[in-house]
Amino acid sequence: MDIEIQSLCAADIPQAMDLKNALGWNQTPEDWRRFLQLSPLGSFKAMRGGQMVGTAVAHVFDRVCWIGMVIVREGCRQQGVGRLMMKRCLEFSAEQGCSLVVLNATREAVGLYGSLGFRPEFLIGTARGTIANGGQFAPGQPTRGEFTPGADSPATKTYQIRRIEGGDLDAIVSLDAEAQGAEREALLMRLVEQYPGSGFVCLGPDCRLEGFALHRPGVHSIQIGPLIARGHIQAESLLRAVCSDLLASGGATGITLTVSLNNTGMRHMLNRWGLSAEPRLTRMSRGWKRLQAREEMIYAFSGPEKG
Ligand SMILES: CC(C)(COP(=O)(O)OP(=O)(O)OC[C@H]1O[C@@H](n2cnc3c(N)ncnc32)[C@H](O)[C@@H]1OP(=O)(O)O)[C@@H](O)C(=O)NCCC(=O)NCCS
Repeated sequence: MDIEIQSLCAADIPQAMDLKNALGWNQTPEDWRRFLQLSPLGSFKAMRGGQMVGTAVAHVFDRVCWIGMVIVREGCRQQGVGRLMMKRCLEFSAEQGCSLVVLNATREAVGLYGSLGFRPEFLIGTARGTIANGGQFAPGQPTRGEFTPGADSPATKTYQIRRIEGGDLDAIVSLDAEAQGAEREALLMRLVEQYPGSGFVCLGPDCRLEGFALHRPGVHSIQIGPLIARGHIQAESLLRAVCSDLLASGGATGITLTVSLNNTGMRHMLNRWGLSAEPRLTRMSRGWKRLQAREEMIYAFSGPEKG
């Protein structure tokens, strides 16, 4: 097979977008730019006869390697390209001294990853909806629901929700690390810088950080996440703040959340709003699981391609 795995660079973003758009995924050129900035040495493309036929990106945070954006051009699949790119990502992970490799697998990729030593952990769902003017929160399909931004949740009496400020980053990074079992300062800093004004924090009565939520534009909808919180009430308050803010910025807004189907609190909250999280991905991992991770605090992932 005449495939060569090379480094992905900024000039490749338009072609990478073409591959991704063919799948209807939500990532933007800005997302690719962030992947490249965060992991210039872990971003790969598969080339055949001068044509880009695949992409894969491996990020390392605190010795945990995240692999995402594994895409092979239709017509070039089932020929070993995906396996070759994955092997390069796994080499990169080993070079970086990672003890754990994590990814979110589509149905068609589960077999390939399983054969590379990845084990399934839990299902991940995608919830899509539209926040429309007038306070209606109309989900994608197949149900309808209501989002009333004016209605106070009980949380607002106990918790303070406000926009993220410069001094919040350290507390955000440590809360996220508590949830993930790994520190992701570079990712969080980049997201906060890249989309200023688009995140909220939830503070307890003692001003301790109880949660945070970020969001950013996608190709077809706003991606809400990461949404990390110490409890359901804090998570719901943050989600309401984000939705109200999007509503205030005008027009009907499509939103997407990528959530663990193990998080029953989040599933119930989405159901109350008439949204259902359709199972689409399987979290798989290879290596030593971080036992200190508190995954129940993860209400929405930063995106399907990462935690
Ligand atoms: C998932 C995906 C990346 C796999 O890429 P791929 O290049 O087809 O992967 P490979 O060819 O290495 O392996 C796929 C299958 O083909 C088989 N295969 C590999 N070489 C083969 C060959 N020469 N002849 C026949 N079968 C072959 C593999 O054994 C594997 O089988 P399995 O799925 O039963 O394990 C690709 O299907 C894709 O881009 N899908 C859309 C995006 C997506 O879902 N990405 C995954 C994100 S997590």
